[in-house]
Amino acid sequence: MKMRHLKADALVGTVIDPLDAADQTRKSLLRFLTCGSVDDGKSTLIGRLLSDTRQIFEDQLAALERDSRRHGTTGEEVDFALLVDGLEAEREQGITIDVAYRFFATPRRKFIVADTPGHEQYTRNMATGASTSDLAIVLIDARQGVLRQTRRHSIIASLLGIRHIVLAINKIDLVGFDAGVYGRIAEDYSAFARGLGFASVTPIPISARYGDNVSQRSDNTPWYSGPTLLEHLETVDVDGASAERPFRFPVQYVNRPNLDFRGFAGTVASGSIAAGDEVVVAKSGQKSRVRRIVTAGGDLRRAVEGQAVTLLLEDEVEVSRGNLLAAPSARPDVADQFAATVVWFDEQAMLPGRSYILRTATDQASATVTELKHRLDVNSLEHQPARSLAMNEVGEVKIALQAPITFDSFSANRATGAFILIDRITNATAGAGMILHPLRRADNIHWQSLDVTRKSRAAAKNQQPAALWLTGLSGSGKSTVANLLEKKLHAAGRHTYILDGDNVRHGLNRDLGFTEADRVENIRRVAEVAKLMVDAGLMVIVSFISPFRAERDMARRLFEDGEFAEIFVDTPIEECTRRDSKGLYAKALAGEIKNFTGIDSPYEAPERPEIHLKTVGRAPEDLVEEIERWLDRRDQAGQQFDDGAGI
Ligand code: ADX
Repeated sequence: MKMRHLKADALVGTVIDPLDAADQTRKSLLRFLTCGSVDDGKSTLIGRLLSDTRQIFEDQLAALERDSRRHGTTGEEVDFALLVDGLEAEREQGITIDVAYRFFATPRRKFIVADTPGHEQYTRNMATGASTSDLAIVLIDARQGVLRQTRRHSIIASLLGIRHIVLAINKIDLVGFDAGVYGRIAEDYSAFARGLGFASVTPIPISARYGDNVSQRSDNTPWYSGPTLLEHLETVDVDGASAERPFRFPVQYVNRPNLDFRGFAGTVASGSIAAGDEVVVAKSGQKSRVRRIVTAGGDLRRAVEGQAVTLLLEDEVEVSRGNLLAAPSARPDVADQFAATVVWFDEQAMLPGRSYILRTATDQASATVTELKHRLDVNSLEHQPARSLAMNEVGEVKIALQAPITFDSFSANRATGAFILIDRITNATAGAGMILHPLRRADNIHWQSLDVTRKSRAAAKNQQPAALWLTGLSGSGKSTVANLLEKKLHAAGRHTYILDGDNVRHGLNRDLGFTEADRVENIRRVAEVAKLMVDAGLMVIVSFISPFRAERDMARRLFEDGEFAEIFVDTPIEECTRRDSKGLYAKALAGEIKNFTGIDSPYEAPERPEIHLKTVGRAPEDLVEEIERWLDRRDQAGQQFDDGAGI
């Protein structure tokens, strides 16, 4: 491993903090990121920029020269990549964060650069860096030209609201400073980028290693008359897009130290606010006026985008954490369905029908992708039909939430129009989304209130409804157990129904096969049907392989405590294969059936099922009795609860 002893982070981070340094505060700030493929020279370029702007002290430079001779790849030249790669090495060990922010300044401007790893699987980091940047330097190896990754990174940059691109055509020395190569790459890229809506694309021929056109105009490119990279970064106007936008203030917490003081703390996400201005609580529509704008350093007359303040209002209004104060003249949307563009990061594909946690700057809700409208081809920008989004893919989706949230379209406001999707099982950030517009189709559908309740339906049947969810491999014995259980319940006067995988797939789910996406939808529908049946007062026995934890958990969340039992019909695959009552294992092993559970499609065994039936060596009667005992215990517990509540 290279350069553990030269702490690049410390070296850069301590030189200057442009946000604090008093003499720097009046200069404008440009946030940018660099993106490129692995060997395009990103680290070298950042090192060069930092060094050329004289932020590296002389002695540190001397240390770098020593290191370069020892470890570098550039002979007697300073290897600027070492400066940055030290951090990369730490990052690989999980010590530092994925995206490193570096600060530097020139007499004209301050800069924050997000340094993001360029490997194919690091789309996530790139998106993180892009979300706060105004400009992207897209690095190209002059010998390679525009690559698939160049296109992917540009699309992500565009989706994340970046309006300005520098096309840094690097290693121009390695193509003999050839104007023709530069021209062709610039043209290639412009043709591709036309559909991405950038306000400016500025191609610059550079050599990060030797410094050509980075901060010094190069004698080797007399045919190039444009600015050097640094000149461009110092002068590019990126403010046009962030012209005064409506006031948005996500409330982080309610500050109530005593009865006389009730303040809403947060950071102004966009626009500005002054004492006396009217504000509206986005979700409830309640209005009030700002009485005071409080900060640690005293009251302000006006607060602007990026400032952390506490707002005191004139009236008592209900504003809880996660809500938003907004300008009454331009209120955000409040809806539980919307269309969005999603960039997927996770190794587990995004599947319509699966439930995720959606988080915005202000709020959080349970979310399902109800439709994948299309996938975006990163080369042609064409829309392709798709059933799922794999890692690094981009698509347009419709999303439904369990409760309404407050938002703007991303094109109107990057802060309030973005969200992330979180995998419920791993807790990983699985994707990032940009909201396009709310969907109004749910607006005119309301819950009908009904006089006969689920409780009275159950009482009429003299039973406590239940969803008994059998999960296990094909041939594990689910149907046998289900059948015998229903027979016994029925004989005891219970009202029952069996939802069986093979049977339901002949009707309601006739359109579904056995891909991951189809299985997710299969289980989603069956869970909803089971819920209706429990609502109707029935004891419903569900018998589906239901191989994924995420969907079984989703089913569980549809029911109330005590209504749902996950029953793991646990038969080893060797035993299922040996029995092979339908002859399907033989076919799957011969390759005649694809995506067969346990063979070439996964089965995720339950971790904490209510009932765990180990079937080997046991008779079906014995297994069914175990379920009956669980039901008896539950009914007794429910009885006590009912009696207790009645007193
Ligand atoms: S699930 O995975 O989506 O829950 P489901 O329980 O509906 O599956 O259907 C499983 C039944 O379909 C199996 O019992 C078997 O009879 C049949 N089947 C046909 N092809 C497959 C396959 N590729 N994988 C699993 N089961 C299959």
